[in-house]
Amino acid sequence: MNIQEKSRYREVYARAQQDPEGFWAEAAREIDWIEPATKIFDPSMGLYGRWFVGAKVNTCYNALDRHVANGRADQTALIHDSPLANPGGPSKITTFTYAELLKEVRTLAAVMQDFGVTKGDRVVLYMPMVPEAVVAMLACARIGAVHSVVFGGFAAKELATRIDDAKPKLIFSASCGLEPGRIVQYKPLLDDALKLATAKPKACIILQRPQQRCELTAGRDHDWVGLREAAMAAKKSADCVPVLATDPLYILYTSGTTGVPKGVVRDNGGHLVALEWSMFNLYGVKPGEVWWCGSDIGWVVGHSYIIYGPLIHGATSIMYEGKPIGTPDAGAFWRVISQHKAVAFFTAPTAFRAIKKEDPDGAFIRKYDLSKFRTLFLAGERADPPTVEWAEKQLKVPVIDHWWQTETGWCIAGNPVGLGMLPVKHGSPTVPMPGYQVDIVDEAAKPLPPNTMGSIVIKLPMPPGCLPTLWEQDARCKEAYFNEFPGYYKTSDAGYKDEDGYVFVMGRTDDIINVAGHRLSTGGMEEILASHPDVAECAVLGIKDTIKGEVPCGFLVLKAGVSREPSEVEKDVVGLVREKLGPVAAFKLAITVARLPKTRSGKILRGTIKKIADGEAWTMPATIEDPKVLDEIQGALKGRM
Ligand code: COA
Ligand code: AMP
Repeated sequence: MNIQEKSRYREVYARAQQDPEGFWAEAAREIDWIEPATKIFDPSMGLYGRWFVGAKVNTCYNALDRHVANGRADQTALIHDSPLANPGGPSKITTFTYAELLKEVRTLAAVMQDFGVTKGDRVVLYMPMVPEAVVAMLACARIGAVHSVVFGGFAAKELATRIDDAKPKLIFSASCGLEPGRIVQYKPLLDDALKLATAKPKACIILQRPQQRCELTAGRDHDWVGLREAAMAAKKSADCVPVLATDPLYILYTSGTTGVPKGVVRDNGGHLVALEWSMFNLYGVKPGEVWWCGSDIGWVVGHSYIIYGPLIHGATSIMYEGKPIGTPDAGAFWRVISQHKAVAFFTAPTAFRAIKKEDPDGAFIRKYDLSKFRTLFLAGERADPPTVEWAEKQLKVPVIDHWWQTETGWCIAGNPVGLGMLPVKHGSPTVPMPGYQVDIVDEAAKPLPPNTMGSIVIKLPMPPGCLPTLWEQDARCKEAYFNEFPGYYKTSDAGYKDEDGYVFVMGRTDDIINVAGHRLSTGGMEEILASHPDVAECAVLGIKDTIKGEVPCGFLVLKAGVSREPSEVEKDVVGLVREKLGPVAAFKLAITVARLPKTRSGKILRGTIKKIADGEAWTMPATIEDPKVLDEIQGALKGRM
């Protein structure tokens, strides 16, 4: 019997297609509901229907309380492993059992209630990778508050935009974050953001980290540790607040096609059911086992698989404050897996490219006992076949690419380890997960035959866990995802399916680029470049990078009469992107050109510039206004890449 015949995938997928309500009702039995759903799926609600309508539930209860009640009180829930907190020495490890984590969460939730936070209020987190962030997110879930985590690598303006959209009652932040060789002061960024934002929170709760403390703003800021100690001494403790399955659990902002980010909403019920289903059926992890997701809590992958998925499932989750290389070396990942006996690990391909460059022969891998380690999962960007092959050869475990988006909250296409793995095809994240009907269509939404590139769309309704809408923006949500291909959700990814139904995701159809697994809008960067007083016109595009996959590159046309050296303006705009968008953009290259290549109707030929910059074969576009401009671009790129 071959591997494919052993897999239950086809049968399980077919069942979810034929009887979605029956399938998800059965999956929902793994969740503890306060009141069951009156309807598993109601097509008349929301933008495309809603899951588990009428049910009452609490996500924090499912992540903590029920495990404490059911024999996991003394099992480790969270392992915080931070090489950055102790550079030059052994990594700083802090662990929490389920009972300990619950106590922290109950206490902080009570503190939040003292600040007047109640069900439905928004709470923003601008936090580094510390366990307190997990406590704060779960405390929000406990009292029905809606958290919105902003990744620490974003600058003040980005934070301000999110604060203005979410209008939080409370903000959690910290004095600093830790990057290799650099302490990132968070407090000045928070202060600047609050100056820029029009929405004003009632209070900020600030964690003073020993590496760099900060001044607290009188009347607004409160010391986290002080509040915790006082609340513990007073034995304050908040109970779980029942919420509707369809109530929001969190908002997570992601890059849109303009500079204004989209607030992806996640609801409670569908999210609980989908993540619980995925932990064993997709990732093959059993309750009680140790799981590691090496993302950041600021990204969807971190939300779903550092925090909610493993905890809902009763597993032990590792939270890592470090990098794949340099903290202290390219063996960091293997040290963590071996020290904590992780059975599965999830990271982005970019991290593996960085390790492969430093340790091409895998010498560090052989220094560690990886006998418990069973599977490596990759996502966040296309897993390029050479990286997958290298990882398979070195680690001798299955390496599984899987594809998803902030909007879906969990995997769209993957290789289901728990159901029995299907054969791996390099370059493909394998097959659609139950509940996702993935189609490849042309501009008229007509399905295309196998092996034909087109837009990747998901037939509505989406399965539980996927976005019901954008925060207070139903119309924008429809416009962004549902209007172009009626009856479908538009992924904005392009690709094809082969004759076996394997999905191949090849790139975006919009202006989003993927830099080291981070999703960024080039349109947003162009807005920043265009704000420079000397810039007449600009274009930003993603160019190939051996480690990060893509990095942004800006082309500038200066205004007539600008007397400053082009190199000075280039330096300015590099600084501007770092200041306004943040270091995460990795925007380091701006090149001044006399003109940008355009079509006769005035559209910038970004695709052709990209091909030239990437050193790929290109053909002269028939619609080009002046072919000579491309020679100028080629000339300008010489010596700059
Ligand atoms: N707070 C503040 N700054 C941050 C930050 C944070 N939370 N995270 C990253 N930055 C900064 C970095 O210090 C760096 O600044 P620099 O320009 O001064 O060097 C910049 O943002 C870019 O960071 P990053 O993209 O992480 O690049 P890197 O060169 O530091 O590391 C990799 C490269 C490949 C090792 C790293 O990107 C990596 O591990 N990526 C995995 C991505 C991932 O897990 N994605 C989640 C989706 S699954
Ligand atoms: P994010 O919302 O930040 O998770 O980014 C989602 C985008 O990253 C997707 O739309 C894809 O463009 C890309 N992506 C994520 N995972 C994969 C993958 N396994 N293969 C190809 N692209 C991916």
